[in-house]
Amino acid sequence: MADQPTQVQHDGPTPSRRDFIYVASGAVGAVGVALVAWPLIDQLNPDASVKALASIEFDLSGIEEGQTLTIMWRGLPVFVRHRTADNITVAQNTPLTDLKDPEPDSARVKEGHEQWLIMIANCTHLGCIPVGDAGDFGGWFCPCHGSHYDTAGRVRKGPAPKNLVLPPYDFVSDTLVQIG
Ligand code: FES
Repeated sequence: MADQPTQVQHDGPTPSRRDFIYVASGAVGAVGVALVAWPLIDQLNPDASVKALASIEFDLSGIEEGQTLTIMWRGLPVFVRHRTADNITVAQNTPLTDLKDPEPDSARVKEGHEQWLIMIANCTHLGCIPVGDAGDFGGWFCPCHGSHYDTAGRVRKGPAPKNLVLPPYDFVSDTLVQIG
């Protein structure tokens, strides 16, 4: 037999105050169960703490100038872009007053390694992965709702509120980077 739709019966033509309190407390109970269940499920996940500490080393030597690779770090896509001299000049010469989330290019890269741009590859609007070498500013374009990012991954146009996020990383050598 098919399930019947749940019916709510009231004493009168409109719900009484007592009915409302009953329905409201039922909803709180469901949320309470969810909050208790989550830590239990989380504890059962054996690799949660390992994941939290994970870092990766990545060899940059195979990435040609002008090329972007997407790698995975802690389950997130990360863009590794080998910027051209032109990409760098344009990014450095952009006035901060033109930016929605003002950050100088120097805050987006490591000193002495300005050719490398490393960013989490999720649009800061709703998380889509933007397309490289696209958009009005020579950086990335997110086709989901039309956000444009420049050659430093800074948002320039569209609904995204922030620049693409930088993961923690450091250069181990000129060609080896550690992310995380
Ligand atoms: S998710 Fe990128 S613009 Fe909406």
